[in-house]
Amino acid sequence: ITPWNEPLSAKYIRSFAYHTVRNRLPVTLTQVIDHLSRNKEDIAQSHGEAAREEIKDVIAHLSKLKNEMQTNKPLEPFHANEADKQVWNDFLENSSIALGRPLLWFADVWLYIECYLYRRIREAFALTKLLNDYDPFRVQKEDAFTGSLNAISVVGSHLFNLCSLEGPLDAQKYLMQFMKLSLWGNRCDLSISGGKDIAQVNDPLEMISQLDNLILVNDLPKVLDVLRQEISPRPVVIDIIFDNAGYELFTDLCLAHLLMKLKLTDIIRFHGKKVPWFISDVMKHDFNWLMNELSKQTGPLQELHKEWSNFLSRGQWVMHDEFFWTSPYSYDCMEKTDQALYNSFKDSKLLIFKGDLNYRKLVGDMNWPHTEDFTTALRGFTPAPLVSLRTIKADVVVGLCPGQAEEVAKADEDWLLTGKYAVISCFTANKRN
Ligand code: F6P
Ligand code: MG
Repeated sequence: ITPWNEPLSAKYIRSFAYHTVRNRLPVTLTQVIDHLSRNKEDIAQSHGEAAREEIKDVIAHLSKLKNEMQTNKPLEPFHANEADKQVWNDFLENSSIALGRPLLWFADVWLYIECYLYRRIREAFALTKLLNDYDPFRVQKEDAFTGSLNAISVVGSHLFNLCSLEGPLDAQKYLMQFMKLSLWGNRCDLSISGGKDIAQVNDPLEMISQLDNLILVNDLPKVLDVLRQEISPRPVVIDIIFDNAGYELFTDLCLAHLLMKLKLTDIIRFHGKKVPWFISDVMKHDFNWLMNELSKQTGPLQELHKEWSNFLSRGQWVMHDEFFWTSPYSYDCMEKTDQALYNSFKDSKLLIFKGDLNYRKLVGDMNWPHTEDFTTALRGFTPAPLVSLRTIKADVVVGLCPGQAEEVAKADEDWLLTGKYAVISCFTANKRN
């Protein structure tokens, strides 16, 4: 069992971290290998005959990686000349100096190990010529989007109708609703839920209205207070740190649209991943792909596409993909390791962090007592007011009332692992002072 206030790690064999490194991550690797062998004809056609050999090299790299993981070998340095190679290699080297031995899959911090795995998958492709840009999760992300078009269209029509109404909107009511849509959209990542759940129901609006009792921490009133504040000088900026592509991304963009419509911000900066990450995380390509899919739709989705394209072309919406998000670092290290990003956040009215992994990085992936204060768990990462919209898929959660964790655990022993429950945890400057 993991001791309190220690980082989660696969060295505790009754933990979810152990289950993940032992069972879930090898499956992820196997799926990538299977995908490549099944699609080698298509890949050779689209990337050139010489790609056949490279597919073999990638498969060999991934099989070796799987073996390294399963036999608890040291985490190896990176070789491909990627812009973040040095950051990662320095991290590996400094960690092993501090430990007096190299990092090991089943002995060290789960957060680093899991990030390292995805960075190594990237390395396998980065070492090739023709497959350098290949995203082994792209097909899954796109299929998940297509499979949730019905839910997307219900949510999109609702937003479009609201925005077409004459007269002022009930800001409080609709902000709450769209924050919750974006929150529950996080149930649809491809590593735990397989993209099913809310994205597949007929009426996501009706469904989310029934899930309020599963939100274990609900700081929405605080978030609304932050959003209502008048800020000068303009332009006002809000940041959304994306998690997953597909239905979740669509709900995030609907929330962004509502924030613009209510004039709560002038600019929204989106942040995605530079490399394929935790299967379903948003990259620039996924964002552009979604926009392109919307342009092919009719009715409200087509109208939303027009409006969103305008936001983008006018520079009111900007998509970023900084390397920091695919580094091993938790967010308390941002100020030291990516000062430019940290400083840019100081101007933000609100930072909206989506999803489970972002939450883990916010609180340092430590085994905090569940009653620990969220602000304490941020350990100084407070560049601006921030909120985490997260469905719970890993065994760290803070900010609960005494006795609450025990009560939920009685109702569902897997309460921390399946995304059934959620938190909306907010830090505001007031709290800090
Ligand atoms: O594997 C660890 C984990 O944090 C899970 O708990 C979850 O499966 C996954 O990563 C990603 O979740 P999210 O997309 O919400 O960050
Ligand atoms: Mg994700």
